[in-house]
Amino acid sequence: MSRPAVFLDRDGTLIEDRGHLSCPSQVQFFPTTVDALRRLSEDFLLFIVTNQSGVAEGLIRAEAVEEVNKYIVTRLQADGIRIVQVYVCPHRRSDGCQCIKPQPYFLHQAAQQYGVDLQRSFVIGDHPHDVELARRVGAQGVYVCSGHGWKHFQELTGPQIVVPDIRAAAEWILSLLPSSAQWGCSAQQIAQAAQIIRSGGVVAFPTETVYGLGANVFDRSAVEQIFQIKNRPRHDPLIVHVADWEQAKQLVREFPESAQMLARRFWPGPLTLVLPKHPTVPDEVTGGLPTVALRMPNHAVALALLRQAGLPIAAPSANPFGRVSPTSADHVRDQLGERVEMILDGGPCWVGVESTIVSFAGSSPMLLRPGGVPLEQIEALIGPVHIPGPGESAPLCPGRFPRHYAPHTPVRLGWEIPAEAKGKRVGLLCLQRPPQAEQFVCVEELSPSGDLEQAAANLYAALRRLDQMALDLILAHPLPEVGMGRAIMDRLRKASAAS
Ligand code: TXA
Ligand code: MG
Repeated sequence: MSRPAVFLDRDGTLIEDRGHLSCPSQVQFFPTTVDALRRLSEDFLLFIVTNQSGVAEGLIRAEAVEEVNKYIVTRLQADGIRIVQVYVCPHRRSDGCQCIKPQPYFLHQAAQQYGVDLQRSFVIGDHPHDVELARRVGAQGVYVCSGHGWKHFQELTGPQIVVPDIRAAAEWILSLLPSSAQWGCSAQQIAQAAQIIRSGGVVAFPTETVYGLGANVFDRSAVEQIFQIKNRPRHDPLIVHVADWEQAKQLVREFPESAQMLARRFWPGPLTLVLPKHPTVPDEVTGGLPTVALRMPNHAVALALLRQAGLPIAAPSANPFGRVSPTSADHVRDQLGERVEMILDGGPCWVGVESTIVSFAGSSPMLLRPGGVPLEQIEALIGPVHIPGPGESAPLCPGRFPRHYAPHTPVRLGWEIPAEAKGKRVGLLCLQRPPQAEQFVCVEELSPSGDLEQAAANLYAALRRLDQMALDLILAHPLPEVGMGRAIMDRLRKASAAS
């Protein structure tokens, strides 16, 4: 049976990068390396893949490299960690060999010799070559900022999974596994979901923002099913989810530099970029617009689904049109239930509000929807982003309806119970519980510590709970409109807009 592996870069990833090491005494493991590898070794074969051009340059002897590697392997073995093999390329880049990273030579060798399933494997490293290596064999790259990672960060050619160090890399990878208690879906289920997508079906899947309802972007009838299941107006365009930079580029005619900067910084993550669409993107997806909305979600299940489907996935939030977005698999089940072929459970969404949408359709960037990436962080990177006034964005963004994200119970945004609701059943939604909370039938406190990110993560589940209390009114206290507060207030305004 084929098994997944993790291919590990050596210097700067597992141990301090101190140049060309010629002696075991120079080896200095990072403090979290052993623990990270021990955890990974429970589910993956482990390999080390290292470029040692110092050999060809005459700076170190091949035997010395071997001695250092032997020391590393033995040392890890003592901690119960088995490195299956250490692959060393001793050449200079100018030698034109086949084995220097990012050439996939050694990974193919591992696949043949040890039955490694490269598609389910990972490469961890602190150089852009390491993630490029992953891309070439259909594995997932994880870029660490240890070693030279930070120095080379600017050279990454596209959005990547970027983490501080080997420990965080291991955590990210392990969070993807079926054994992960929090996630209710197995690798088999992800594979099955990918198959459904490829054969024209619709699947609900988790992302870090909200659950999406996905279909093959190029399959018009699959896309039509999404609209039917959601009861969504056909002119309201869908967001297209991509697994990597290559996929993103194939869907657009142009990718302006400032949009690329945002993608490099915030992808995978809760940011959607609206760009001039490539002619291959069907009009059904974009509501007839000349633009397409793209996002690379930062959820391991979503990324695995995208990679295995091998296709971009068009997906709106997995709720009936106009209703509160789902932030758990149960929410999807409650709202759409039998109507979707499969619901992949990825646990609760940790961002909790939809992605921020920035349009590059006009002459300057425009904020179409505040969301999971705060506007401040976007402007810090690319300068001022235009915020359209009421009505101004209508032609660009037909999906912006005044009433949206709404529970069945009326919502009122304010500090006081309105006169007409006095003596009725009123529930409160607030950042922090106020002193006079007894006047409410129930209170949903979004973050006891006043943390706006936590508040966003709790928002939709809290709205749902209030909606089940047979209330006459939900009073929502305003939140500060900074950071994530902007997205929360946007949703509360839409929830409270008169229907
Ligand atoms: O976080 C999210 O963005 C989630 C997850 C599933 O990725 N998706 C999501 O999709 O919120 P949805 O359908 O609920 O919102 C998509 C919105 C549309 O209503 C529209 O406002 C905007 O994205 N949109 C999509 N394509 C567009 C385009 N070409 N031009 C302008 N706006 C577009
Ligand atoms: Mg390195």
